[in-house]
Amino acid sequence: ASTSATSVSISGDISSQLHGGYSHPLARSWQAERQLTKSMLILPLFITDNDDEETLIPSLPGQYRRGINKLVPFLEPLIRKGLRSVILFGVPLAPGVKDALGTAADDPKGPVIASIRLLRQRFPQLFISADVCLCEYTSHGHCGILRDDGSLNNELSVDRISDVAMAYAQAGAHCVAPSDMNDGRIRAIKLKMIEEGIAHRVVLMSYAAKFSGCLYGPFRDAAGSVPSFGDRKCYQLPPGGRGLARRAIERDISEGADIIMVKPASQYLDIISDAKEIGKNMPIAAYQVSGEFAMIHAGAKAGVFDLKTMAFEATEGILRAGATIVVSYFTPDFLDWLES
Ligand code: PBG
Ligand code: ZN
Repeated sequence: ASTSATSVSISGDISSQLHGGYSHPLARSWQAERQLTKSMLILPLFITDNDDEETLIPSLPGQYRRGINKLVPFLEPLIRKGLRSVILFGVPLAPGVKDALGTAADDPKGPVIASIRLLRQRFPQLFISADVCLCEYTSHGHCGILRDDGSLNNELSVDRISDVAMAYAQAGAHCVAPSDMNDGRIRAIKLKMIEEGIAHRVVLMSYAAKFSGCLYGPFRDAAGSVPSFGDRKCYQLPPGGRGLARRAIERDISEGADIIMVKPASQYLDIISDAKEIGKNMPIAAYQVSGEFAMIHAGAKAGVFDLKTMAFEATEGILRAGATIVVSYFTPDFLDWLES
Protein backbone atom coordinates (compact mmCIF):
# COMPACT_ATOMS: atom_id res chain seq x y z
CA ALA A 1 0.00 0.00 0.00
CA SER A 2 1.09 3.52 -0.72
CA THR A 3 1.98 5.77 2.17
CA SER A 4 1.21 8.95 0.28
CA ALA A 5 -1.87 10.75 1.63
CA THR A 6 -3.24 11.45 -1.82
CA SER A 7 -3.19 7.91 -3.16
CA VAL A 8 -4.44 5.62 -0.39
CA SER A 9 -5.70 2.29 -1.74
CA ILE A 10 -8.98 0.82 -0.44
CA SER A 11 -7.17 -1.95 1.39
CA GLY A 12 -4.88 0.53 3.15
CA ASP A 13 -7.51 3.07 4.16
CA ILE A 14 -7.92 2.43 7.89
CA SER A 15 -10.12 5.48 8.46
CA SER A 16 -12.91 3.96 6.34
CA GLN A 17 -13.29 0.94 8.64
CA LEU A 18 -16.08 1.83 11.10
CA HIS A 19 -18.11 -1.40 11.43
CA GLY A 20 -15.87 -2.93 14.05
CA GLY A 21 -16.43 -0.06 16.44
CA TYR A 22 -20.13 -0.81 16.77
CA SER A 23 -20.15 -4.52 16.10
CA HIS A 24 -21.21 -5.58 19.62
CA PRO A 25 -24.54 -4.46 21.22
CA LEU A 26 -22.66 -2.88 24.13
CA ALA A 27 -20.27 -1.10 21.77
CA ARG A 28 -23.32 0.16 19.83
CA SER A 29 -24.72 1.65 23.04
CA TRP A 30 -21.38 3.38 23.69
CA GLN A 31 -21.88 5.40 20.49
CA ALA A 32 -24.57 7.49 22.21
CA GLU A 33 -23.63 10.41 24.44
CA ARG A 34 -26.71 9.75 26.57
CA GLN A 35 -28.69 6.57 27.18
CA LEU A 36 -32.39 6.79 27.94
CA THR A 37 -32.93 6.05 31.62
CA LYS A 38 -36.05 6.03 33.76
CA SER A 39 -34.97 9.06 35.75
CA MET A 40 -35.00 11.24 32.61
CA LEU A 41 -38.71 10.70 32.08
CA ILE A 42 -41.61 12.87 33.27
CA LEU A 43 -45.16 11.56 32.90
CA PRO A 44 -47.94 14.10 32.15
CA LEU A 45 -51.14 13.56 34.16
CA PHE A 46 -54.57 15.12 33.54
CA ILE A 47 -56.51 15.59 36.77
CA THR A 48 -60.19 16.53 36.82
CA ASP A 49 -62.32 18.04 39.56
CA ASN A 50 -64.59 15.00 39.31
CA ASP A 51 -62.98 12.86 42.02
CA ASP A 52 -63.98 9.38 40.81
CA GLU A 53 -63.56 9.94 37.11
CA GLU A 54 -61.36 7.78 34.88
CA THR A 55 -62.07 8.60 31.23
CA LEU A 56 -60.06 7.49 28.21
CA ILE A 57 -58.98 10.40 26.00
CA PRO A 58 -59.91 9.26 22.50
CA SER A 59 -57.15 11.15 20.65
CA LEU A 60 -54.42 10.10 23.12
CA PRO A 61 -54.16 6.29 22.99
CA GLY A 62 -54.09 4.74 26.46
CA GLN A 63 -54.14 8.09 28.31
CA TYR A 64 -56.87 8.95 30.82
CA ARG A 65 -58.31 11.95 32.56
CA ARG A 66 -58.47 11.00 36.21
CA GLY A 67 -60.09 12.27 39.37
CA ILE A 68 -57.98 12.48 42.52
CA ASN A 69 -59.39 9.21 43.89
CA LYS A 70 -57.96 7.29 40.91
CA LEU A 71 -54.50 8.78 41.15
CA VAL A 72 -52.85 6.67 43.85
CA PRO A 73 -54.02 3.27 42.49
CA PHE A 74 -52.83 4.29 39.01
CA LEU A 75 -49.41 5.51 40.16
CA GLU A 76 -48.57 2.76 42.69
CA PRO A 77 -47.53 0.11 40.13
CA LEU A 78 -45.70 2.67 37.99
CA ILE A 79 -43.66 3.89 40.95
CA ARG A 80 -42.81 0.28 41.73
CA LYS A 81 -41.48 0.01 38.15
CA GLY A 82 -39.30 3.08 38.61
CA LEU A 83 -41.42 6.13 37.80
CA ARG A 84 -39.61 9.15 39.27
CA SER A 85 -41.56 12.18 38.13
CA VAL A 86 -44.93 13.51 36.97
CA ILE A 87 -46.22 16.83 35.64
CA LEU A 88 -49.77 17.78 36.61
CA PHE A 89 -52.39 19.44 34.42
CA GLY A 90 -55.71 20.47 35.94
CA VAL A 91 -58.89 19.85 33.97
CA PRO A 92 -61.85 21.65 35.58
CA LEU A 93 -65.10 20.11 34.35
CA ALA A 94 -67.65 21.51 36.85
CA PRO A 95 -70.14 23.75 35.03
CA GLY A 96 -69.54 27.47 35.51
CA VAL A 97 -66.06 27.04 37.00
CA LYS A 98 -64.23 28.88 34.19
CA ASP A 99 -64.04 32.68 34.12
CA ALA A 100 -62.11 35.47 32.43
CA LEU A 101 -59.34 35.43 35.07
CA GLY A 102 -58.88 31.68 35.39
CA THR A 103 -59.80 31.93 39.08
CA ALA A 104 -60.01 28.14 39.47
CA ALA A 105 -56.31 27.68 38.63
CA ASP A 106 -55.21 28.25 42.22
CA ASP A 107 -58.35 27.14 44.03
CA PRO A 108 -56.93 25.48 47.17
CA LYS A 109 -59.57 22.75 46.79
CA GLY A 110 -58.96 22.42 43.04
CA PRO A 111 -57.54 19.24 41.51
CA VAL A 112 -53.93 20.40 41.07
CA ILE A 113 -53.33 21.69 44.58
CA ALA A 114 -55.21 18.76 46.12
CA SER A 115 -53.14 16.31 44.03
CA ILE A 116 -49.84 17.96 44.94
CA ARG A 117 -50.69 17.55 48.64
CA LEU A 118 -51.89 13.98 48.21
CA LEU A 119 -48.92 12.84 46.11
CA ARG A 120 -46.36 14.48 48.41
CA GLN A 121 -47.88 12.57 51.29
CA ARG A 122 -48.41 9.19 49.58
CA PHE A 123 -45.26 9.07 47.43
CA PRO A 124 -42.46 10.96 49.23
CA GLN A 125 -39.90 9.93 46.57
CA LEU A 126 -41.94 11.17 43.60
CA PHE A 127 -40.82 14.45 42.00
CA ILE A 128 -43.90 16.56 41.36
CA SER A 129 -44.00 19.25 38.70
CA ALA A 130 -47.04 21.44 38.08
CA ASP A 131 -47.74 22.97 34.69
CA VAL A 132 -48.68 26.61 35.23
CA CYS A 133 -51.12 28.14 32.76
CA LEU A 134 -54.56 29.69 32.64
CA CYS A 135 -55.96 28.19 29.42
CA GLU A 136 -57.58 25.22 31.19
CA TYR A 137 -59.33 27.65 33.55
CA THR A 138 -60.30 30.66 31.42
CA SER A 139 -63.73 30.94 29.79
CA HIS A 140 -62.03 32.05 26.55
CA GLY A 141 -59.38 29.30 26.65
CA HIS A 142 -56.39 31.61 26.21
CA CYS A 143 -53.21 31.35 28.30
CA GLY A 144 -53.58 34.71 30.03
CA ILE A 145 -55.89 37.59 30.85
CA LEU A 146 -57.34 39.47 27.88
CA ARG A 147 -58.13 43.12 27.22
CA ASP A 148 -61.60 44.13 26.06
CA ASP A 149 -60.45 43.91 22.44
CA GLY A 150 -59.39 40.27 22.94
CA SER A 151 -55.64 40.91 22.94
CA LEU A 152 -53.41 39.53 25.68
CA ASN A 153 -52.79 41.83 28.66
CA ASN A 154 -49.22 40.75 29.41
CA GLU A 155 -48.86 42.66 32.67
CA LEU A 156 -52.02 41.31 34.31
CA SER A 157 -51.27 37.83 32.94
CA VAL A 158 -47.76 37.74 34.43
CA ASP A 159 -49.12 38.87 37.78
CA ARG A 160 -51.77 36.16 37.77
CA ILE A 161 -49.51 33.40 36.41
CA SER A 162 -46.89 34.11 39.08
CA ASP A 163 -49.57 33.94 41.79
CA VAL A 164 -50.70 30.56 40.49
CA ALA A 165 -47.09 29.30 40.37
CA MET A 166 -46.64 30.44 43.98
CA ALA A 167 -49.78 28.60 45.07
CA TYR A 168 -48.51 25.33 43.53
CA ALA A 169 -45.07 25.80 45.04
CA GLN A 170 -46.55 26.60 48.46
CA ALA A 171 -48.70 23.47 48.21
CA GLY A 172 -45.51 21.44 47.83
CA ALA A 173 -44.71 21.14 44.12
CA HIS A 174 -41.00 20.41 43.62
CA CYS A 175 -41.12 22.17 40.28
CA VAL A 176 -43.34 24.80 38.66
CA ALA A 177 -43.40 24.95 34.87
CA PRO A 178 -45.08 27.96 33.28
CA SER A 179 -46.31 27.10 29.77
CA ASP A 180 -48.23 30.33 29.16
CA MET A 181 -45.51 32.18 27.21
CA ASN A 182 -46.25 35.62 28.64
CA ASP A 183 -43.18 37.86 28.49
CA GLY A 184 -41.39 38.24 31.82
CA ARG A 185 -43.14 35.51 33.78
CA ILE A 186 -39.95 33.66 34.72
CA ARG A 187 -38.55 36.75 36.43
CA ALA A 188 -41.87 37.46 38.15
CA ILE A 189 -42.15 33.90 39.49
CA LYS A 190 -38.52 33.82 40.64
CA LEU A 191 -38.90 37.16 42.46
CA LYS A 192 -42.09 36.08 44.23
CA MET A 193 -40.44 32.82 45.30
CA ILE A 194 -37.46 34.74 46.70
CA GLU A 195 -39.79 37.16 48.54
CA GLU A 196 -41.71 34.25 50.07
CA GLY A 197 -38.53 32.42 51.02
CA ILE A 198 -39.16 29.29 48.95
CA ALA A 199 -36.85 29.90 45.97
CA HIS A 200 -34.28 27.52 47.47
CA ARG A 201 -36.58 24.49 47.29
CA VAL A 202 -38.43 24.91 44.00
CA VAL A 203 -37.19 24.17 40.48
CA LEU A 204 -38.36 26.71 37.90
CA MET A 205 -38.72 24.98 34.55
CA SER A 206 -39.49 27.35 31.70
CA TYR A 207 -41.35 26.31 28.59
CA ALA A 208 -38.95 28.75 26.93
CA ALA A 209 -39.12 27.64 23.31
CA LYS A 210 -42.74 26.66 22.82
CA PHE A 211 -43.89 26.71 19.22
CA SER A 212 -47.41 27.24 17.95
CA GLY A 213 -48.70 24.64 15.55
CA CYS A 214 -50.99 21.66 15.17
CA LEU A 215 -49.30 19.21 17.53
CA TYR A 216 -51.18 20.17 20.71
CA GLY A 217 -54.62 19.09 19.41
CA PRO A 218 -55.02 15.89 21.46
CA PHE A 219 -53.86 17.73 24.60
CA ARG A 220 -56.49 20.41 24.10
CA ASP A 221 -59.11 17.65 23.71
CA ALA A 222 -57.87 16.13 26.95
CA ALA A 223 -57.67 19.40 28.88
CA GLY A 224 -60.66 21.12 27.30
CA SER A 225 -58.46 24.12 26.50
CA VAL A 226 -59.27 24.90 22.86
CA PRO A 227 -59.40 28.73 22.55
CA SER A 228 -62.97 29.92 21.98
CA PHE A 229 -61.72 32.42 19.38
CA GLY A 230 -58.46 33.16 17.59
CA ASP A 231 -55.29 31.13 18.14
CA ARG A 232 -52.12 31.26 20.24
CA LYS A 233 -49.89 32.76 17.56
CA CYS A 234 -49.38 36.07 19.37
CA TYR A 235 -47.67 34.31 22.28
CA GLN A 236 -46.39 30.95 21.00
CA LEU A 237 -43.42 30.98 18.60
CA PRO A 238 -43.67 30.68 14.80
CA PRO A 239 -42.31 27.28 13.63
CA GLY A 240 -39.59 28.88 11.50
CA GLY A 241 -38.38 31.17 14.27
CA ARG A 242 -35.04 29.71 15.28
CA GLY A 243 -33.50 33.06 16.16
CA LEU A 244 -36.55 34.04 18.16
CA ALA A 245 -36.35 30.75 20.07
CA ARG A 246 -32.68 31.43 20.86
CA ARG A 247 -33.64 34.85 22.21
CA ALA A 248 -36.46 33.38 24.30
CA ILE A 249 -34.05 30.78 25.74
CA GLU A 250 -31.42 33.43 26.54
CA ARG A 251 -34.04 35.64 28.14
CA ASP A 252 -35.50 32.92 30.34
CA ILE A 253 -32.05 31.86 31.53
CA SER A 254 -31.30 35.48 32.45
CA GLU A 255 -34.66 35.73 34.24
CA GLY A 256 -33.81 32.82 36.53
CA ALA A 257 -35.02 29.61 34.87
CA ASP A 258 -33.44 26.46 36.33
CA ILE A 259 -34.41 24.23 33.40
CA ILE A 260 -35.12 25.21 29.79
CA MET A 261 -37.76 23.28 27.89
CA VAL A 262 -38.25 22.95 24.13
CA LYS A 263 -41.66 21.91 22.82
CA PRO A 264 -42.65 20.10 20.61
CA ALA A 265 -39.58 17.87 20.50
CA SER A 266 -39.02 15.78 17.35
CA GLN A 267 -39.96 18.58 14.92
CA TYR A 268 -37.60 20.99 16.74
CA LEU A 269 -34.38 19.02 17.26
CA ASP A 270 -32.28 21.96 16.06
CA ILE A 271 -33.87 24.10 18.78
CA ILE A 272 -33.05 21.44 21.40
CA SER A 273 -29.47 21.53 20.19
CA ASP A 274 -29.48 25.35 20.38
CA ALA A 275 -30.90 25.18 23.92
CA LYS A 276 -28.13 22.74 24.88
CA GLU A 277 -25.52 25.14 23.49
CA ILE A 278 -27.01 28.32 25.00
CA GLY A 279 -27.89 26.61 28.27
CA LYS A 280 -24.74 24.52 28.46
CA ASN A 281 -24.66 24.76 32.24
CA MET A 282 -28.22 23.63 32.87
CA PRO A 283 -30.55 20.68 32.23
CA ILE A 284 -32.50 20.81 28.98
CA ALA A 285 -35.97 19.30 28.79
CA ALA A 286 -37.96 18.39 25.70
CA TYR A 287 -41.71 17.81 25.64
CA GLN A 288 -42.70 15.05 23.25
CA VAL A 289 -46.20 16.46 22.91
CA SER A 290 -49.61 14.90 22.44
CA GLY A 291 -49.56 15.17 18.64
CA GLU A 292 -46.16 13.47 18.41
CA PHE A 293 -47.39 10.63 20.64
CA ALA A 294 -50.65 10.26 18.71
CA MET A 295 -48.77 10.30 15.40
CA ILE A 296 -46.44 7.49 16.46
CA HIS A 297 -49.43 5.43 17.60
CA ALA A 298 -51.26 6.11 14.33
CA GLY A 299 -48.20 5.15 12.27
CA ALA A 300 -47.76 1.91 14.20
CA LYS A 301 -51.46 1.09 13.87
CA ALA A 302 -51.24 1.66 10.12
CA GLY A 303 -48.34 -0.80 9.93
CA VAL A 304 -45.74 1.81 9.03
CA PHE A 305 -43.43 0.75 11.86
CA ASP A 306 -43.32 -1.09 15.17
CA LEU A 307 -44.54 1.08 18.07
CA LYS A 308 -41.74 0.30 20.51
CA THR A 309 -38.98 0.65 17.91
CA MET A 310 -40.33 4.02 16.80
CA ALA A 311 -40.86 5.27 20.37
CA PHE A 312 -37.18 4.51 21.11
CA GLU A 313 -35.97 6.00 17.83
CA ALA A 314 -37.90 9.25 18.36
CA THR A 315 -36.81 9.56 21.98
CA GLU A 316 -33.17 8.71 21.30
CA GLY A 317 -33.20 11.42 18.63
CA ILE A 318 -34.41 13.90 21.24
CA LEU A 319 -31.59 12.87 23.60
CA ARG A 320 -29.03 13.00 20.81
CA ALA A 321 -30.08 16.59 20.03
CA GLY A 322 -29.19 17.54 23.60
CA ALA A 323 -32.13 16.92 25.95
CA THR A 324 -31.46 15.36 29.34
CA ILE A 325 -35.12 15.30 30.43
CA VAL A 326 -38.04 14.07 28.33
CA VAL A 327 -41.69 14.76 29.12
CA SER A 328 -43.47 11.87 27.44
CA TYR A 329 -46.79 10.02 27.35
CA PHE A 330 -44.69 6.92 26.57
CA THR A 331 -43.26 6.98 30.12
CA PRO A 332 -45.34 4.00 31.39
CA ASP A 333 -44.30 1.99 28.31
CA PHE A 334 -40.64 2.92 28.73
CA LEU A 335 -40.75 1.75 32.36
CA ASP A 336 -41.61 -1.70 30.98
CA TRP A 337 -39.35 -1.54 27.93
CA LEU A 338 -36.28 -0.36 29.87
CA GLU A 339 -36.65 -3.33 32.22
CA SER A 340 -35.46 -5.99 29.79
C1 PBG B 1 -50.97 24.71 28.25
C2 PBG B 1 -50.19 23.59 27.68
C3 PBG B 1 -50.34 22.97 26.43
C4 PBG B 1 -49.44 21.91 26.39
C5 PBG B 1 -48.75 21.92 27.59
N1 PBG B 1 -49.21 22.97 28.37
C6 PBG B 1 -51.30 23.24 25.33
C7 PBG B 1 -51.24 24.50 24.60
O1 PBG B 1 -50.36 25.35 24.78
O2 PBG B 1 -52.17 24.70 23.82
C8 PBG B 1 -49.30 20.94 25.26
C9 PBG B 1 -48.90 19.56 25.63
C10 PBG B 1 -49.22 18.50 24.63
O3 PBG B 1 -49.69 18.75 23.51
O4 PBG B 1 -48.99 17.32 24.97
N2 PBG B 1 -50.53 25.97 27.91
ZN1 ZN C 1 -52.03 27.64 28.17
